[in-house]
Amino acid sequence: MSRTGRRRLHLGRQRLRLAVACGATALIVGLLGVFWYNSRLPASYSVMDMGHAEYGGGPIGSMPHDGHDGHAGGEEPAADGAASAVPALTADQGGAPDVEMTLVARAERFQPPSGDWVDGYTLNGQSPGPVLRVTAGELVQVRLENESVAEGVTLHWHGLELPNADDGVAGVTQDAVAIGAEHTYRFVADQPGTFWYHSHQLSHEQVRRGVLGALVVLPQQATSPDADPPDADPADADVVALVHRYGGKSTVNGHRDDLRIPAAPNQRVRVRVINTENGPMSAWVGGASFRLVAVDGRDLHEPTLLEGTAVLVTAGGRADLEVTMPTDGSGVRVQLGGSAVVLGPASAEAAEVPRPAETVDLLSYGTPADLGIDWGTPDRRFDYDIGRRPGFLDGRPGMWWTINGRLYPEVPAYMVAEGDIVVVHIANHSGEVHPMHLHGHHAVVLRRDGEPATGSPWWVDSLNVSDGESYDLGFVATNPGIWMYHCHNLPHASEGLVAHLMYEGVTTPFVLGGPAGNEPE
Ligand code: C2O
Ligand code: CU
Repeated sequence: MSRTGRRRLHLGRQRLRLAVACGATALIVGLLGVFWYNSRLPASYSVMDMGHAEYGGGPIGSMPHDGHDGHAGGEEPAADGAASAVPALTADQGGAPDVEMTLVARAERFQPPSGDWVDGYTLNGQSPGPVLRVTAGELVQVRLENESVAEGVTLHWHGLELPNADDGVAGVTQDAVAIGAEHTYRFVADQPGTFWYHSHQLSHEQVRRGVLGALVVLPQQATSPDADPPDADPADADVVALVHRYGGKSTVNGHRDDLRIPAAPNQRVRVRVINTENGPMSAWVGGASFRLVAVDGRDLHEPTLLEGTAVLVTAGGRADLEVTMPTDGSGVRVQLGGSAVVLGPASAEAAEVPRPAETVDLLSYGTPADLGIDWGTPDRRFDYDIGRRPGFLDGRPGMWWTINGRLYPEVPAYMVAEGDIVVVHIANHSGEVHPMHLHGHHAVVLRRDGEPATGSPWWVDSLNVSDGESYDLGFVATNPGIWMYHCHNLPHASEGLVAHLMYEGVTTPFVLGGPAGNEPE
């Protein structure tokens, strides 16, 4: 071949290579464009159309959830069972409330009890908002008024198993309350325990910046001598310790300094620790032994004395510590991450103690109690598998959380029927910890990494699932509605780590986005 011939051949090959490279690039760019385009969320949509339905091996039933792509095949949902809309799922509306209060939400600069000014939100002029203390069985009515929160606001009652219409989730159970508007919540707080409330509109912003408060449901006092003895002795002290960071600084009930609580020698003190932060927190006690008497508003069975052991409090979770004050009048320090509660006489010293190396393992703490539920043959068995991969979320490229391999909004709708026994297998291999929170229900831990629970029944509404861990949880579907099941590291939730538990036949008229601008996370 002549020199010019070889040269032409060479040029020809180069052009071909260039053409192939250009074609491949165009294809990749085109595909990315399609992924980007498809990932954009519409201006308004219903959670009923979101993602794909999972039935967990149970009957498909009469599900209104038809936007999903999860169940192929000829089986058409049967038309039995009348649908009930979320707003109808309320407490008995008759009768005067036992407890009535109004909470006014404002966007303003405020100063927590100690510490710097914060540019955020208040409830009745303060943050944390007022502590709501009610007695089990009381009908509670809270009116939320929005004076100046531009994006709208709601109140969610974290951990309470209340009727779905009062769950306070913008776009799912109500519209965000606009400036000048109000919304009334009514529910019977029937389970004694420690809970909290917070906004579920733009929660990753509004919770951090102050729309939150503690909610304590006290046990009923025995009224007759034959009745079961009351849980608490009137001589006991009962302390709320709500931990929250304002402007990056750790506080207890808004106090940056130690929160001092008077306590007499031999007095029993219940410290209700509430972790409102996005990550797990360690709690430990210096100067006395203690018991971990409740987790997430459920008493533990026969909790033993602990000493030299820390307790891990899940983000969004609660831990009630019971301390018996030393006889010698010395102080006790309850360390809560970067802040502390000091119990004792006003003059008592309570030196800081380092975090113990050991952490109590709730899989084996306390003693078992028969729940009378057979978890071995559940009606539904679901997977909640958390991973992470690159992709587009509402048009934004990034590394996003996945649930069962898919990105939001292609997330599972876990479909159940009332009365179902449900087992959920949560596995996390996403590289980070996730505090998983199920609304409207408590679930009991059955196994961690395949190892069965051997301690007290460990009921949770918020469960710390570390990277590499897996949990099997059991619960009974007794509270009809549409319930969020999401990560309570709230920025993670806003990045799509959100699924829903949906009862057969329940529909919602509310939409995400829409005129109210509903954005629950
Ligand atoms: Cu504490 Cu879905 O929330
Ligand atoms: Cu998370």
